[in-house]
Amino acid sequence: MTSVTVNHLTKDFHVRKGLRRNTLRAVDDVSFELLPGRTVALVGESGSGKSTIARMLAKLESVTSGSIDVRLEDGTPVVGSMYRRHVQMVFQDPFASLNPFHSIEHHIARPLQLHHRTRGADETRERVRELLDRVNLDEDFAERRPHELSGGQRQRVAIARALAPGAQVLVADEPVSMLDVSIRLSVLNLMGRLQREDHLAVLYITHDLATARHFSDEILVLYRGRVVERGPSDAVILDPHHDYTRLLADAAPDPERVDRRVTAGPVVDRATIDNTTCYDHGLGAWVDAPAAPVGAR
Ligand SMILES: Nc1ncnc2c1ncn2[C@@H]1O[C@H](COP(=O)(O)OP(=O)(O)OP(=O)(O)O)[C@@H](O)[C@H]1O
Ligand SMILES: [Mg+2]
Repeated sequence: MTSVTVNHLTKDFHVRKGLRRNTLRAVDDVSFELLPGRTVALVGESGSGKSTIARMLAKLESVTSGSIDVRLEDGTPVVGSMYRRHVQMVFQDPFASLNPFHSIEHHIARPLQLHHRTRGADETRERVRELLDRVNLDEDFAERRPHELSGGQRQRVAIARALAPGAQVLVADEPVSMLDVSIRLSVLNLMGRLQREDHLAVLYITHDLATARHFSDEILVLYRGRVVERGPSDAVILDPHHDYTRLLADAAPDPERVDRRVTAGPVVDRATIDNTTCYDHGLGAWVDAPAAPVGAR
């Protein structure tokens, strides 16, 4: 079982503006923990830095400052090729993440071979079928190519492929937002089941507060690169404190909300929202954003 501690993570991008180079701070001092068997949801509007955090976790993007510490249960640091095996991503677009020229079998067999999870073609074939079965796909799917699958089926393949190397940490960046509404729930339920079976530590990135509440233990609300509210999912959704969270919640009203008046009328003025303080439901207090992960306090 593997845990991730993200400490004071910051990412600057250098963007060209005419002749000048500007620095854009996409992620600013973000800290959290991912624990086995638990899901943390990262919610926030477009451009708030969610994917940048995911990409840094998956080592697809360098870290400007701060740290990402991945450890086994006995404290052994997970580094190098072991890191790539342990930390896997599921991307938003199931069409872009699968190569149209390769069969489904190839997509799942490849990580098994790369990470030496199987010995010989027979074992690999058997393992591919097992993985397809785990994501509720018939073994006939092995022979198919991505264009012969629906979006939901492709995303199941992407999940099977992420699990293939023996993933312990799953970073799911809006895994269902491109799927038809009717099948979103089944894919999220599947991820939930796999998480329980394999004790995965999951970071679930979404715009959707309702699924964030349902599928995660903790929610981090990201606004302009900073965490502005954090806490147990129910607390954040039912009793939002930060103006930005209220704004998000207003866009997705929840009938169970304690303070229904918040949703009546434009009580939150976007122009006055700041991202320099964070409400931490665990502490029951406002803190200067961000708070360190619980374990590091
Ligand atoms: N490679 C890059 N170079 C320059 N700027 C970038 C790069 N990648 C992301 N950004 C900028 O960083 C900010 C955060 O982007 P990011 O993709 O993390 O947002 P997001 O929260 O995932 O948004 P969305 O919900 O639309 O997916 C944005 O302002 C974006 O333009
Ligand atoms: Mg994104």
